[in-house]
Amino acid sequence: MAAPSPAVGLVLRAYPRRWRERYGVEMAALLAERAPSWRDLLDLARGGVDARLHRLVRPPTQLVAAMARREVVMAAPVSRPYGVVDKQPIGEMSRRAFMGRMLAVGTGILALEFIGGTIAFLWPQLRAGLGAKFSLGTLADIIAKQPSFANGWPYSVAPVRSFLINVPAARELALGREASIANPSADQMLALYRKCPHLGCQVPGLCDELKRFTCRCHGSTYNILGEKLKQGPAQRGMDRFAVQVNANGVVVIDSSQYTFGALDRQDVKFLTFVDAAPYDRKCK
Ligand code: FES
Repeated sequence: MAAPSPAVGLVLRAYPRRWRERYGVEMAALLAERAPSWRDLLDLARGGVDARLHRLVRPPTQLVAAMARREVVMAAPVSRPYGVVDKQPIGEMSRRAFMGRMLAVGTGILALEFIGGTIAFLWPQLRAGLGAKFSLGTLADIIAKQPSFANGWPYSVAPVRSFLINVPAARELALGREASIANPSADQMLALYRKCPHLGCQVPGLCDELKRFTCRCHGSTYNILGEKLKQGPAQRGMDRFAVQVNANGVVVIDSSQYTFGALDRQDVKFLTFVDAAPYDRKCK
């Protein structure tokens, strides 16, 4: 058998030692019989990288194809002495390794199922009530149910425990003036959460006398836009839900999105709206 050229020897060095032990002699014999082209050398080099990256190593594909076409004649197999097999054959997996991998895969699947199930269980599924979106109907529907909404009186929305406020009309009402505004835009409406920000009592409806909200538990008082006034221990104004008007003109309160009421600064100058009654008065 002719010795392989230095280039072939160099490229064969790219293969892992175990690969060379198994295929090296045969491959060198093949290449000695047929002067390898640069494509063969490239294929050999690529096979070397592949053999280092993957345990299931194979001879380079182009040379194998050439063997199949009998362009390259396989050298006679090199006889090897038989003996005790003390190593796992290359490319084969031991039973222990196989069981270990299957155990790891099974444990991984179980862990994923557990994590996925827990997340699905804890994920909010609210489709109705507090925490969900609630459609009130169009403004015409709301005014048909409660005509005074156009005049600034709050519209109570029990499923999401809130008051819908027609802001421009409500300002006029609290200033003692008459107004009728039947088509406020989404950003001209507020949805005030009726849970008092002090200790959570339900804030009752607007008092006729002052056009303010006063919590009966400890007397916290808010103007018609839910801003905290002087009376009462609450530390901020009434919280607000997002209000949207969809493409069909339906008013929607999204109670999954809310903003805290403004911090109580104990001073009238921090209010965005000052009504007609004294700052420190509360409803009787
Ligand atoms: S809970 Fe409303 S003032 Fe205390």
